[in-house]
Amino acid sequence: MKKLFQKKVPILHHLKLGPDYFRMGLAFPELAGIARPGQFVMVRLLHKYIPLLRRPFSVHNRLVEKNEVRGFELLYKMVGQATNAMSKLKAGDLLDVLGPLGNGFSCPDGIHNVFFVAGGIGVASLYYLARFLVGHSGIRSTVFLGGRTAADILCREEFESMGAKVRITTEDGSLGEKGVITSMLQEALNVDGKPDMIYACGPTGMMKAISNMAHTHDVSCQVSLETVMACGFGVCLGCAVETAGSPGAYFHACTDGPVFDSRAVVI
Ligand SMILES: Cc1cc2nc3c(=O)[nH]c(=O)nc-3n(C[C@H](O)[C@H](O)[C@H](O)COP(=O)(O)OP(=O)(O)OC[C@H]3O[C@@H](n4cnc5c(N)ncnc54)[C@H](O)[C@@H]3O)c2cc1C
Ligand code: FES
Repeated sequence: MKKLFQKKVPILHHLKLGPDYFRMGLAFPELAGIARPGQFVMVRLLHKYIPLLRRPFSVHNRLVEKNEVRGFELLYKMVGQATNAMSKLKAGDLLDVLGPLGNGFSCPDGIHNVFFVAGGIGVASLYYLARFLVGHSGIRSTVFLGGRTAADILCREEFESMGAKVRITTEDGSLGEKGVITSMLQEALNVDGKPDMIYACGPTGMMKAISNMAHTHDVSCQVSLETVMACGFGVCLGCAVETAGSPGAYFHACTDGPVFDSRAVVI
């Protein structure tokens, strides 16, 4: 049976990375010690009834000091009520955290060359995955980072310091190539050849486009879907994702996902 923790935990650090982006460290060693890349936590603000529901955030990084796990980090974008309230918290403040939830990415044997494709804040979970795959086992990787503008491109230096090749697009051309990341991926698949696996996280339209490309090029692909979630553990049934091949059958993104083999779902 999966282990699950829920606790009010203190914020270790909280850094503003750009106009809307924040990195937050949370002191939760029990959870951080078992959280796998692609898994997520549900976060609730204390002393606030609006928003009432918890919000899902990917585990972005494990914090280790002197060989001891101290906690984990979130990387988040301020988009609405909860993330706005979170952005005002400081080190020492408490957050109610539940997790780790979901299935996480998998890495089948025989993988030597992978593409990571992130749209904006989708990079949060892929960075943690890259630390496991590239940092620990030397798998060759190309990271595709796409955003509207330069401020949406996060973790570039961190990926480069792992030895990953980083390719960037922005829609306004303020960093990297002007355009969308799916076009750059398409070109890489045509010109550079196929990787053993594509790992992708980002907006739904982008996940759909990447799944289609992966099928066309016959490349294995895992997508992490940012479905709206109310409970995070299979109770509200609000995160249904249609299964491919069995019309009328549904997965639940919070328990069966959020990571799916792109061939298993209708996006
Ligand atoms: C498994 C999972 C992992 C996630 N990981 C991260 C992460 O690491 N970092 C991060 O910044 N965000 C992540 N998200 C998205 C995050 O949960 C939402 O941004 C957050 O719930 C917004 O809460 P809010 O109250 O600030 O905004 P709200 O007021 O609830 O919404 C503001 C706007 O954001 C949209 N929105 C809300 N939730 C989502 C969602 N899940 N997907 C797409 N649009 C949404 C709403 O439609 C609305 O337009 C993840 C979502 C899921 C399902
Ligand atoms: S979010 Fe409630 S069942 Fe998935």
